[in-house]
Amino acid sequence: MKILLIGSGGREHALAWSIAASALTEDLLIAPGSDAMAALGRCIDVSVDDLDGLMELAASEAPDLVVVGPEAPLVAGLVDRMEAAGHAVFGPRQAAAQLEGSKGFAREICAKFGIRQPGFTICTDLAAAHAAIDATGGACVIKADGLAAGKGVVVADDADEAKAAAAKMLAGRFGDAGATLLVEERINGPEASLFALIDGPNALFMGSAQDHKRAFDGDRGPNTGGMGAVSPAPRLSDELRDQVMDEIVLPLARGMADDGTPYRGILYVGLMLTADGPQVIEFNCRLGDPEAQVILPRLRSDIVAVMLATVEGTLGHVSLRWDDRSAVTVVMAAEGYPGTYDKGSAIGGTDAVETEDVILFHAGTKIDADGTLRAHGGRVLAVTGLGADVTAARNASYDAIKAISWPQGFYRRDIAAS
Ligand code: AMP
Ligand code: GLY
Repeated sequence: MKILLIGSGGREHALAWSIAASALTEDLLIAPGSDAMAALGRCIDVSVDDLDGLMELAASEAPDLVVVGPEAPLVAGLVDRMEAAGHAVFGPRQAAAQLEGSKGFAREICAKFGIRQPGFTICTDLAAAHAAIDATGGACVIKADGLAAGKGVVVADDADEAKAAAAKMLAGRFGDAGATLLVEERINGPEASLFALIDGPNALFMGSAQDHKRAFDGDRGPNTGGMGAVSPAPRLSDELRDQVMDEIVLPLARGMADDGTPYRGILYVGLMLTADGPQVIEFNCRLGDPEAQVILPRLRSDIVAVMLATVEGTLGHVSLRWDDRSAVTVVMAAEGYPGTYDKGSAIGGTDAVETEDVILFHAGTKIDADGTLRAHGGRVLAVTGLGADVTAARNASYDAIKAISWPQGFYRRDIAAS
């Protein structure tokens, strides 16, 4: 089969790695891909935001399956356009991708189907936000409704902090994404992420992970896209997994299918494991980054067969096989990330790090004609280690990192340590 993968980051490198390993893959095209991904498929320089360019590419290449990695083109309706042009696509249509594109939509749909979540109020002006904040007693969470690259959430300790955050969002700090905001009840507990494949009414557990979002050790520093992850999520027991599938994922899938906005693709369920049970923190309409870099290496089933079953609506006949080992990925980022950082510094020592237990995924690199590897992004590498348990997987990842020389980079030393 000919497969077109859309994206260029570490998540897409992991997807490309899995798709290239499938017995069904004859030809893998990646738009735009990256220098590192060129070892796995043909990279074609069309950006993920260039929906017209992607449509033209699909028309000229006629892939058997299109796989969309990042959220922006999903929320912008790429799948609807591809389907209208007759292409088979793995990823939700625009209406279903609103689970990520609009936090208010996600909350309202959970409320409609009786899915456990924190209390919330949707506001479009400051007076309403103030009233909602005061009603929570002050400890609450302020969220921009739309996509804000993971930055549109403020967990506030008191009403003043919450009101200041609401004022900034409504004043346009996140553009249109913050024109509507949510004031949420602040809940407590460890976090875990569960992934599910959904083909409309059917849903299948697709792994769990826990990521580390703060930049520095000890969960300090600014929020990032994710500095590392572990799979399976250590705190998500089999019982909790089943509870989340039965009480969150399946009611959502069936409800959306009944409503005429079926979800098709992979759903990322961000959970807080409260004393009263799991509650939904957020949904994403795609795999996580760097969660993909720990989930996909553990998947033993053929990823392309699984994606086709999702697209064709036959997930009810599929069961997935998993590697029993744990996986830990540690992200190496450019000094300064998630703020400003330089590009172009050379990274040495990566040639020999990959073993049976170590996979190097590239999130933001370039490779010179002479083979020199250079940093070309904020998050630059994700070093995944596999091992019999979390400790062994961690050790595999950190031992590999020791062999990499990159003075302009940094990484957390406590990924999967607690
Ligand atoms: P989100 O982008 O919605 O995942 O939110 C980012 C982070 O804010 C989450 O990972 C949680 O740590 C925290 N958070 C979001 N919503 C809540 C909530 N209602 N109560 C407590 N913490 C929250
Ligand atoms: N690692 C968080 C995300 O992919 O949204």
